[in-house]
Amino acid sequence: MLRTYLDFIRAVAVDRLGRAGVILVTTSFITFVVMQAAILLGIVGNAYVGLIVYLLFPLLFVLGLALIPIAWMRRRRATGLTTRELLERRFGPDGVEADIAGSKVFRTVAVFTLANVLILGIASLMMLHFMDTAEFCGTACHSVMSPEWSTYQASPHARVACVECHVGEGVGALVNSKLNGAWQMVSAAFDLYERPIPTPVHQLRPARETCERCHWPEKFYGSRLISRVAFADDEASTPSYTTLNLKIDPGAAGAAGVHWHVDAGNQVRYASVRDERREMLWVEARQPDGSVRRWVNTRLTPDAGSGETGQRVMDCVDCHNRATHIYQRPDDAVDALIRLGAIDRSLPFIRREAVKALRGDYPSRDAAEAGIRAGLGAFYRRAYPDHLATWLDRIDAAADELVEVWARNVHPGMRVGWGAYPSFLGHRESPGCFRCHTRDLRDAEGGWISDDCTLCHSILAYGEAAPFAYLDPAVEGARNRPMHEYLRDEFLRSVEN
Ligand code: HEC
Ligand code: HEC
Ligand code: HEC
Ligand code: HEC
Ligand code: HEC
Repeated sequence: MLRTYLDFIRAVAVDRLGRAGVILVTTSFITFVVMQAAILLGIVGNAYVGLIVYLLFPLLFVLGLALIPIAWMRRRRATGLTTRELLERRFGPDGVEADIAGSKVFRTVAVFTLANVLILGIASLMMLHFMDTAEFCGTACHSVMSPEWSTYQASPHARVACVECHVGEGVGALVNSKLNGAWQMVSAAFDLYERPIPTPVHQLRPARETCERCHWPEKFYGSRLISRVAFADDEASTPSYTTLNLKIDPGAAGAAGVHWHVDAGNQVRYASVRDERREMLWVEARQPDGSVRRWVNTRLTPDAGSGETGQRVMDCVDCHNRATHIYQRPDDAVDALIRLGAIDRSLPFIRREAVKALRGDYPSRDAAEAGIRAGLGAFYRRAYPDHLATWLDRIDAAADELVEVWARNVHPGMRVGWGAYPSFLGHRESPGCFRCHTRDLRDAEGGWISDDCTLCHSILAYGEAAPFAYLDPAVEGARNRPMHEYLRDEFLRSVEN
């Protein structure tokens, strides 16, 4: 077997070019197998290794294979022989069989071709599989996807592969995404892509196919209590508490809430200026009884009105546009760090100074690290020189946390600064819900989509000095107790009974 193989390759490698082809095929195959074993054993494994193993080696393999017949062709032209004569002369003729299908050369070439097709088939399947991993999507183009990759890893969907949301099912979607991906590789290689990557993503897989595999509207019911704490810019970074009761029900039972838009039977359509989903041209609501209401933007100039390029049926990502790539605002990020205790609130003015340090204009992570440290240090050295020595550890710890926040949210290479990708959920980072729930949009009778403050939530507490407290008549002396105590007592009572 090995002898035949060696004889064979000696025969097919008709000249220097052919030999180069054979060497390329053999070495890339062996390296591929060795690297694959290393990946399976967990010795190596990242997007670059994958890129080399699954793209470069198969490519070299194919290139090597292509060189061999090219060498035959050159040789044929030089000698005037046919391919069969050429090969038989080198490989040893059969002599007997007259038809080509029976000849030894033909059979051997056929066997090897089959083996090569098999190898390439397996390699491309492995490549497709590898290209579906989040590591590949997130890191293969390195800096291009770094904003999406870093926000993804910190999101509730960090275990959901990119392709589960970004690529549809079926052969069409697969081909489409690979063509698209090939173009993306070219644009990444030649620096042709836009910075920041534009949003909305128009070819995102329909949310109703993706999100609803794991979340579906019937599962949202009742309301959701959200309590937030924010810290002031004063010396004590004084906390203030806001509690909302968000109505998240789809509304089947008449208690309509936020998920009404995606409840079976309801359909909201809209068209937006330049299809950017920021400023609505008109909005339409169809309900199960077949009635349709339409609101038209009365504030747009006729000029902007011509920006209609298509209409869209509202789905999950019209509100949850930041379901995975969640960017924070500097003040929210600092509030979260103080709340978690990662930044020590006993440092005077720490909230104000931390936000200020984060907002600095830094060209790189190293610059941010230096700038944030210097900024905080300079403030405390100037304002509290006597305490600096004892506070140094806490200031350093705060700076470490801030650098992480900065690096997750700001990507100068991609021109992603604070606020580049605002969330549509709510109405704080962007008009969000108020894109439609606004008096700028009017129906024929002059009515608008409600913007009543109690339509979507009841505001139980707003900027209060103490956390929202329940009035619980069942427990004696339980007036105005903090929520966690109330919940704990509720739990204990339920266990006792
Ligand atoms: C749970 C679903 C989900 C997962 C998982 C996911 N994405 Fe996204 N992605 C979205 C949504 C939703 C948008 C915003 C769509 C919009 O507004 O049109 C988006 C937008 C993007 C954008 C455009 C820039 C932006 O932020 O709007 C890029 C690039 C992107 N995703 C890449 C990735 C990569 C790379 C991964 C894996 C590391 C990934 N996505 C994983 C849902 C997802
Ligand atoms: C493969 C399953 C899967 C898919 C697909 C998926 N999610 Fe999720 N989602 C999860 C899991 C798991 C969590 C985390 C749940 C938790 O932490 O309680 C989550 C969390 C969330 C949350 C946060 C809930 C909370 O408690 O704050 C939202 C909002 C969300 N997903 C929306 C979406 C949207 C929008 C899409 C489609 C673009 C989507 N998801 C696609 C599995 C998925
Ligand atoms: C009209 C805007 C809107 C649409 C459309 C929408 N959501 Fe939501 N969703 C919200 C809001 C607002 C919340 C509450 C957010 C919070 O907790 O801060 C929410 C909460 C959620 C949660 C957390 C629920 C819980 O029990 O706490 C999940 C999961 C979710 N949505 C998934 C989806 C999916 C999947 C779709 C599409 C079928 C969808 N949403 C469509 C606005 C929307
Ligand atoms: C694309 C436009 C659009 C966006 C964006 C939008 N809505 Fe709506 N919403 C509508 C329309 C249209 C109605 C139906 C109004 C009517 O029939 O009077 C509606 C109705 C509602 C209702 C009442 C449902 C009922 O029938 O009682 C709630 C609650 C609601 N929206 C919450 C939200 C929240 C919260 C957001 C942001 C997270 C949001 N909406 C974003 C278009 C939108
Ligand atoms: C169309 C639905 C809708 C309407 C109308 C609406 N809100 Fe909201 N609001 C939301 C949603 C959704 C959130 C929660 C978003 C989130 O999870 O951050 C929110 C959050 C808030 C918050 C908390 C912000 C924070 O600091 O975290 C306040 C305060 C608030 N709304 C006040 C108001 C007031 C005042 C009005 C009346 C002018 C109003 N809202 C009208 C949907 C609405």
